[in-house]
Amino acid sequence: MKKLLFLLFALLASMIGIYPLLYFVVDMSNQGLLGRKPPELFQNYLWHFLFYTHIALGGIALLTGWSQFSLKLRQNRMNLHRNLGKIYVISVLLSGIAGLYIALFATGGIVSILGFASLAVLWLFTTFNAYTSIQKKKIVFHQQWMIRSYALTFAAVTLRIWLPLFTEGLGMGFIEAYVIIAWLCWVPNLLLAEWWIRRSSIA
Ligand code: HEM
Repeated sequence: MKKLLFLLFALLASMIGIYPLLYFVVDMSNQGLLGRKPPELFQNYLWHFLFYTHIALGGIALLTGWSQFSLKLRQNRMNLHRNLGKIYVISVLLSGIAGLYIALFATGGIVSILGFASLAVLWLFTTFNAYTSIQKKKIVFHQQWMIRSYALTFAAVTLRIWLPLFTEGLGMGFIEAYVIIAWLCWVPNLLLAEWWIRRSSIA
């Protein structure tokens, strides 16, 4: 059961991790989220640059993060764990700063803006704490902050699970659903992470 859950976790993280590639190979300007953006926004070059920075490095954070939770990898390939960890931290740092800026233009207005901006700040904060903990050789704190950090990274996956459930399943309008999901994509993840930390003996 544990193995199956880990497989599902790895599969979802990998699928959504490679999803931003679509934006670089297909013209997405009239589709999905971009299709709903006001045309003036496309004249904002900083937004454009930071949007692509955010999605590319967010994808890398998702792809590099999941395997770090494998005990086998940590025990047998410590160097790989360290290198993937460095890529993860740099990706979160840049994607998080970019995410904070693009959050100011989020679809749905102030409630979505606050939802995504809070997520970005907490993403940076938890990852920074995870990094500084390991610099100080505080392994347990490092593990706990990384669980919180990746639970927030996983918001990219949960957002894309909640969205069709609300729009297709409950028949809610896109904006109505999006405003709720700007919070729902990460608050339960963080609560689950806290529960997991306390349940494991590492608390
Ligand atoms: C955890 C912190 C994250 C924050 C704060 C965040 C924030 C945002 C914001 C504000 C938007 C634009 C929403 C709008 O304009 O309405 C966005 C879009 C997007 N983000 Fe993130 N994001 C995060 C994580 C990730 C990760 C890990 C990925 C990796 C796949 C990712 C990939 C994307 C993509 C592809 C979009 C474009 C919308 C779509 O196609 O669904 N984000 N994000």
